[in-house]
Amino acid sequence: MLDIEKIREEFPLLARTVYGKPLVYLDSGATAQKPRRVIDTIDELHRLHNANIHRGVHCLSEEMTERYEQARARVASFVGAAEPEEIVFTSGATASLNAVAYAWGGRFVKAGDNIVVSELEHHSNIVPWQMLCERTGAELRVLPFDDAGALRTELLPSLVDGRTRAVAVTQASNTLGTRPDLRPIVDAAHAVGAIVVVDGCQGAVHGGVDVQALGCDFYAFSGHKLYGPTGIGALYGRRELLEAMPPFMGGGDMVDRVSFARTTYAPVPLKFEAGTANFIGAIGLGEATEFLAQFDPAEIEAHEAALLRRATERLEAIDGLRIFGTTPGKCAIVSFDVAGTHPYDVGMILDKLGIAVRTGQHCAEPVMTHYGVTGMCRASFALYNTLAEADALAEGVARAVRMLR
Ligand code: ALA
Repeated sequence: MLDIEKIREEFPLLARTVYGKPLVYLDSGATAQKPRRVIDTIDELHRLHNANIHRGVHCLSEEMTERYEQARARVASFVGAAEPEEIVFTSGATASLNAVAYAWGGRFVKAGDNIVVSELEHHSNIVPWQMLCERTGAELRVLPFDDAGALRTELLPSLVDGRTRAVAVTQASNTLGTRPDLRPIVDAAHAVGAIVVVDGCQGAVHGGVDVQALGCDFYAFSGHKLYGPTGIGALYGRRELLEAMPPFMGGGDMVDRVSFARTTYAPVPLKFEAGTANFIGAIGLGEATEFLAQFDPAEIEAHEAALLRRATERLEAIDGLRIFGTTPGKCAIVSFDVAGTHPYDVGMILDKLGIAVRTGQHCAEPVMTHYGVTGMCRASFALYNTLAEADALAEGVARAVRMLR
């Protein structure tokens, strides 16, 4: 069993108070707190090792380059990539998804083709594809979900056809917590030669990932939701696809030879890493994956499932409270509203009690539209949360509802 109190000690921020009350941090879906080893690594790199990578013959530069490439290998191993070169460091999942839609899509998608996205998606896995469709004249198709939040994969045969070039889908919904079965989606896409692009922002942190087992072609995630630093993330791509995809930004470090007549590019993944990389962030992300690697994923999964169960049971007991997303096996995210109250008001009262949740559309407006609501409250749990915090959430919501009604 995980020793949650010991794990909490690793996260300095969890010890703080807000408005004189102990912090109950239930907004890890927006950004997770950082363990001491990530914070210390970043601090140590700035204090003792800072030097630009891939650019110097001097000792500091070589040390930093080595650690950057070690971080790439750590991230590759974390996601189950076949080789480190299949990992491109980006500023986060949004940059990763835009890179694929822009660079891969720009080369391989034409007028008359179509792209399928799921209705569950975060805006970052919708808007880049919409922009691609606008540029190329391709059609955007939507794989809907049912009211429980499950993707209606039985509709795949009517959506995926010989002109489908890509299917973009989340590994875990940031709003409903749904973890779709990706197998039928991958099979349907691959049967017609389309690629599968997976948004792993919430999936990677809740239950981990093995990109080869998933069978996806591209996989995007952010460091800051994975107990790592902000401003860093990664794009996994199968080597063959990365080789075929043109670079999307030009600049230093992504080139082989440059002349005014012609430029040739560095091999993957460097051809996608123009400019000075966020090398300290990347090494911090590598440290976060090492932090996670010390735990048995099944134990993390069991702990988070217990948190979800407790929060769900306690919240369901509140009169007029409706939980959005009720699929079996969902990750530890609970979105809800309460009849007769506004989510912002509930969120603000919770805040005064020291409880941090997210309110609003969660960057997933189509999910709000599906349920005909303008917003929801969302509690998103992490490895470091306790059952007492799930109870505090329910007690806080009950109190907010009493005040607002
Ligand atoms: N995408 C992040 C969330 O779900 C910010 O809150």
